[in-house]
Amino acid sequence: MDLFEHQAKELFAEYGIPVPTGKVAHTPAEARAIAEEFAAAGVSRVVVKAQVKTGGRGKAGGVKLADSPADAEEKATQILGMDIKGHTVHKVLVEEASAIAQEYYFSFLLDRANRTSLSICSVEGGMDIEEVAATTPDRVAMVPIDAQTGVDRAKAREIAEQGHLPAEALDGAAELVERLWAVFTDEDATLVEVNPLILTADGQVKALDGKVTLDGNAEFRQPDHAALEDAASADPLEAAAKAKDLNYVKLDGTVGIIGNGAGLVMSTLDVVAYAGEQFGGQRPANFLDIGGGASAEVMANGLEIVLSDPSVKSVFVNVFGGITACDAVANGIVSAYKLLADRGETVDRPLVVRLDGNNAELGRQILSDAALPGVERVDTMDDAAKRAAELAVGA
Ligand SMILES: Nc1ncnc2c1ncn2[C@@H]1O[C@H](COP(=O)(O)OP(=O)(O)OP(=O)(O)O)[C@@H](O)[C@H]1O
Ligand SMILES: [Mg+2]
Repeated sequence: MDLFEHQAKELFAEYGIPVPTGKVAHTPAEARAIAEEFAAAGVSRVVVKAQVKTGGRGKAGGVKLADSPADAEEKATQILGMDIKGHTVHKVLVEEASAIAQEYYFSFLLDRANRTSLSICSVEGGMDIEEVAATTPDRVAMVPIDAQTGVDRAKAREIAEQGHLPAEALDGAAELVERLWAVFTDEDATLVEVNPLILTADGQVKALDGKVTLDGNAEFRQPDHAALEDAASADPLEAAAKAKDLNYVKLDGTVGIIGNGAGLVMSTLDVVAYAGEQFGGQRPANFLDIGGGASAEVMANGLEIVLSDPSVKSVFVNVFGGITACDAVANGIVSAYKLLADRGETVDRPLVVRLDGNNAELGRQILSDAALPGVERVDTMDDAAKRAAELAVGA
């Protein structure tokens, strides 16, 4: 999960990392009110910054300096509603303007290829680090971090030195980097990036920008992270699926997909997309892996989620029996229909079921005997995909 800049800075502040003070505004009037508070406290210049989860905001005109509360309102009017690389700006951060002497770059990230954490530090900050690395690689330090020893003050200072930070910035940078390492590890982040890290005119080192990616796999031990989620922009179906512990990803086609095992579901998407070409370009409507022990309840939940997508015209249930045999899955489908009926929902679109693998014959028999309305059994994956695509056109 990526955080907004203001969330990243709030997190930094909790760890004692110096950041400019600021507040979030959703309207120009709110931006003005925040700037008025700053003015009353003797800060006349503020920066209005678009809060979107993408880079290059400054270049797109999403970061603007304002000289007065009226100007802050005007700048917020310009920025709110702006589109930055497909992200609409719904809120801005209004923060005190800093007197910048120099801009640096710093980040910690998970270096998957080398199976280690990596720090990147450069005296050339504020701009695209990829560009700096390409044009002046000697100005960019890339220092791997040993997970056993981590980053203490001395190591932090060494990284800052290797990034060619000047002597007057080293103490401040070392302290900031050491705390940033605490953010990176304690919060289970895969990225913390500060660009720019600045030296102010009066010699302080501060994080002027913040980008944080939290590792979703660590959710179970990071109960506080749920509150950081951006519920407003999440797909409602994906949110509903998540609440039911389902592995669901919304796609833009018409054929709903349910399968057991991520690999099988991935290949089902391909097979459906291929078969759909014969039927006017029908495509998969979602990814849904109901996992190994497909119980009736999980199947019912899966059907419910898939069918609540109005663009779904037919559903393909593709099951390969393994440890959970096909007869258990077939019984699951039959019971799922009853469960859905109990919840007052009917399966109102055609379902194509392919069962193969462990106890396939038994499973097929159960399904045929149940004679569920709208359910068709097709025994090979290719034929079932074709039939589901065909039904999506007819429906
Ligand atoms: N509080 C501030 N005071 C003074 N100048 C600022 C402040 N915040 C940002 N700036 C200036 O604006 C520039 C761009 O800001 P920032 O790094 O936050 O956005 P960005 O890099 O354009 O966006 P992104 O990180 O999404 O690519 C900074 O390099 C800095 O020069
Ligand atoms: Mg930046």
